[in-house]
Amino acid sequence: MVRETRMDKSSLIYPIFVKDGKNIKEEIPSMEGQFRYSVDQLPYALEEIAEAGVSSVMLFGIPEHKDEMGSQAYAEDGIVQRALREAKKQVPDLYYITDVCMCEYTSHGHCGVLCGHEVENDATLELLSKTALSHVQAGADMVAPSDMMDGRVGAIRRTLDASGYKETPIMSYAVKYASAFYGPFRDAAGSAPSFGDRKSYQMDYHNRREAMKEALTDVEEGADILMVKPALSYLDLVSEISKATCVPIAAYSVSGEYAMVKAASKMGWIEEDKIICEMAVGTYRAGAGIYLTYFAKELARFMEEGR
Ligand code: PBG
Ligand code: ZN
Repeated sequence: MVRETRMDKSSLIYPIFVKDGKNIKEEIPSMEGQFRYSVDQLPYALEEIAEAGVSSVMLFGIPEHKDEMGSQAYAEDGIVQRALREAKKQVPDLYYITDVCMCEYTSHGHCGVLCGHEVENDATLELLSKTALSHVQAGADMVAPSDMMDGRVGAIRRTLDASGYKETPIMSYAVKYASAFYGPFRDAAGSAPSFGDRKSYQMDYHNRREAMKEALTDVEEGADILMVKPALSYLDLVSEISKATCVPIAAYSVSGEYAMVKAASKMGWIEEDKIICEMAVGTYRAGAGIYLTYFAKELARFMEEGR
């Protein structure tokens, strides 16, 4: 009766990986219990997700080939675009969000196009906009740019509006830090940068005030939801951003957080179920209204049980 934080499974988003090929369901070594699916296998996984009571997914694509310009990110028959068309046909009731970035698609693994060894911010905006538009045309209900280029929310908003998709929302990875917690994801997607790091576009985790700037800029550019990422070590920012803005706040419990829980629980050192709930409640208590987690299926059940 006096509980202050209550969780609702409609706030969950489950991140899922789709790759080129046929008949593939392969486990990601550093993310036990998570898989890469080929387009034909994806609907089975989506049905399981829906049955577990999770209503939204975030799609990540792993293309057959990568190139300098990340051309498969915005190809009409790219992996995410094909997966979306199939998924919307087979499992139409789920809400489909797509991650919009270049790093899974570029041969150098950076989140934008290069000029020499530098990521070119403005040249990248055009390709991100094309990518977002191609996702929406393939059926995406919402797009989520994760590249951290300056001005990308505005650029994507303008492109979608001009093409008649005024109602399609943007969830911005607004407050995204350069983090070692993304390690397992980069294994999963083969998207580690081939040189350097992402510190010229992702944020320095020593900074708090800069997060405010990122958040407010994205709201101004038209973001409908702001995301803070990672979650666990960044709950102070979830709290601050939720107080400083009026848009819904999402927090992404990333691959490294998942891997730590899985590894420790496999060793018998922690109680997995309880840890999952405690991490989730902490995030909602800090001010998140939306929670992205690889534990979404389990968590939906725990929420139903009122844990
Ligand atoms: C793409 C992207 C990444 C993640 C989400 N979108 C990787 C990165 O920025 O290096 C990380 C998700 C996770 O670790 O679970 N830019
Ligand atoms: Zn990226």
